[in-house]
Amino acid sequence: MKSMEVVIEGNCYISGRLERCCIGIDGGKITAIAKDLDGEKVHSFDGKLVLPAAVDAHVHFRDPGFTQKEDFSTGSLSALCGGVTCVFDMPNTRPATINLASLRDKKKIASSKSLVDFGLFAGVKPGTNVASLSKEAIGFKLYLGSTTGELLVPDIASIKKEISDIGASGKILAVHAEDEGMRNKDVEKNLDDHLRNRSNSLETSAIKKIIRNAGKDCKLHICHVSTRDSLSLVTGVPNLTSEVAPHHFLLDRSGNLGAFGKVNPPLRKREDRQAMFQALKDGAFDVIASDHAPHTIEEKEEDFDYAPSGVPGVETMVPLVMQHVRDKHLELSGAIRRLCERPAEIFGVPKGRIAVGYDADLMIFDMAKISIIKADALHSKCGWTPYEGMNAVFPKAVFLRGRLMVEDGSQVGERMGRDVLAGQV
Ligand code: DOR
Ligand code: ZN
Ligand code: ZN
Repeated sequence: MKSMEVVIEGNCYISGRLERCCIGIDGGKITAIAKDLDGEKVHSFDGKLVLPAAVDAHVHFRDPGFTQKEDFSTGSLSALCGGVTCVFDMPNTRPATINLASLRDKKKIASSKSLVDFGLFAGVKPGTNVASLSKEAIGFKLYLGSTTGELLVPDIASIKKEISDIGASGKILAVHAEDEGMRNKDVEKNLDDHLRNRSNSLETSAIKKIIRNAGKDCKLHICHVSTRDSLSLVTGVPNLTSEVAPHHFLLDRSGNLGAFGKVNPPLRKREDRQAMFQALKDGAFDVIASDHAPHTIEEKEEDFDYAPSGVPGVETMVPLVMQHVRDKHLELSGAIRRLCERPAEIFGVPKGRIAVGYDADLMIFDMAKISIIKADALHSKCGWTPYEGMNAVFPKAVFLRGRLMVEDGSQVGERMGRDVLAGQV
């Protein structure tokens, strides 16, 4: 039998089932799956889970422009250590990623710094040149509500043409669904005030509006769904996929997070948080994505009203979900579908599955090993986490395209992150 370059053996998640077998890898791709395989390099993980690594379809790595908060090196190291080998970065950087020049600049930066593979979103504004961006962007991002950055488009009518151009391009339009016209602007002192200014109805209204205006014209992806009433709006709609962020099914406004829990859409009431968790159990949402949005501790310690919105989470997303799998609150198959399979499928990248022809991106778990989340042990530049003290199961090892990149929480492999669209252009 021909020897493979790399063989990984363990309890592997293949076609929805765990089975003890070997994964053969050549040129970074999975080329064989069998009970036994010979390899020049063999990694044995007896008794450990071998899962497809996660694709995080929503991160803010802040590079260029806000590298005091994060940059592509620290963000991608944080991703890797949390089992994420591919990220899609949002366009609200400085400059914003809204034309070919800024997209290519960011691509250069990410290509020289990223430890994980990446795709770059382009922002949509009136006048965005969709045709030129669509070949090099992983998708388009529309902000219907104001938040970090300057990409707000409060009026969908102003981008009718851009939306139909996105539809023609076949790319995804990811939407931050909060209706800016309904936002209260009262001074905020705490998370209750923040929620009052951005009530649940902002989200449901924005989802309805974007479906009404763009539903038939292009593929919509509703980011960070956070209210109970949004669930029926994002279910069973053709051409529409939905996403939920860990902070919306694990945290609510009742925690003592202060401005460290200030995020858009806001942490809501306990009923909404519970509804998001129950919906996950019931099969709702295509994707779990972190919406990793780091800000510095100093920024978050400003007056509540002035502090920026956003929480980090790219490194803790998979470990927190795996803890819930371990505790039997969530099923492994549902977790893998939303963390790995669906995001890869929706955005068209050959990742997220252990199958021949797919990238050999893998994460290995010892489910007996529970850790307590501590910001000090995480790798984001921001230096804090809203999940401090919670239990989690971190990956024991992470492979990117067949290369061992992380072992027991430390980087061991050389950087080789690249644009997932490179070579397709
Ligand atoms: O809270 C948020 N922070 N929501 C967003 O939509 C953007 C993000 C950021 O970039 O800080
Ligand atoms: Zn958003
Ligand atoms: Zn975001």
